[in-house]
Amino acid sequence: MGWANAHPTDTQNKGELTMATVPTSRADTTAAKKPKEAKKGHPSGDKRFKVLDITMKRAQYRPDVLIEVLHKAQEAFGYLEEDVLLYVARGLKLPLSRVYGVATFYHLFSLKPGGTHTCVVCTGTACYVKGGGQVLSALEEHFGIQVGDTTPDGEMSLLSARCLGACGIAPAVVFDGTVAPKQTAELALEKVKGWME
Ligand code: FES
Repeated sequence: MGWANAHPTDTQNKGELTMATVPTSRADTTAAKKPKEAKKGHPSGDKRFKVLDITMKRAQYRPDVLIEVLHKAQEAFGYLEEDVLLYVARGLKLPLSRVYGVATFYHLFSLKPGGTHTCVVCTGTACYVKGGGQVLSALEEHFGIQVGDTTPDGEMSLLSARCLGACGIAPAVVFDGTVAPKQTAELALEKVKGWME
């Protein structure tokens, strides 16, 4: 996916966390100490961790599969809680700081419980120049939230992404995992309001 190609050190994205801003207090000490723990499953017995095990095992625990594993984790858990990040860090033998850095860099990942629905507005260059920024502003204004927030009723989390790899249909918005082409503020508002009826 296109959004996965951006690098966490891309400094053009103002106001967003980069790996350099991520706290490293416990990170670099927790990563490689128990590399085999993830392979045995999570102590809680939560079967969702199996999904992560399978993804990591298939990639032979290569560190470059990190984004894919986080994506699976977000699908399975709804958001990336600390325990999940720690599990992934141990499984891939990566510093926790690195895993945190990636998880906080991409707006598709959330470290907080999300809403029932998610709306991800692409603000990559192609989408932005074709009105993606206006779509995002309209949603923020109408629902009184900022990007990264969830509506107070818990119905919708509003996120943004840099490029979804669908520039030909810009501006693109992902509604609950489905990419919608050529969005306008009106179309996006109509879709999200439909969730809330
Ligand atoms: S900029 Fe590429 S899909 Fe939006």
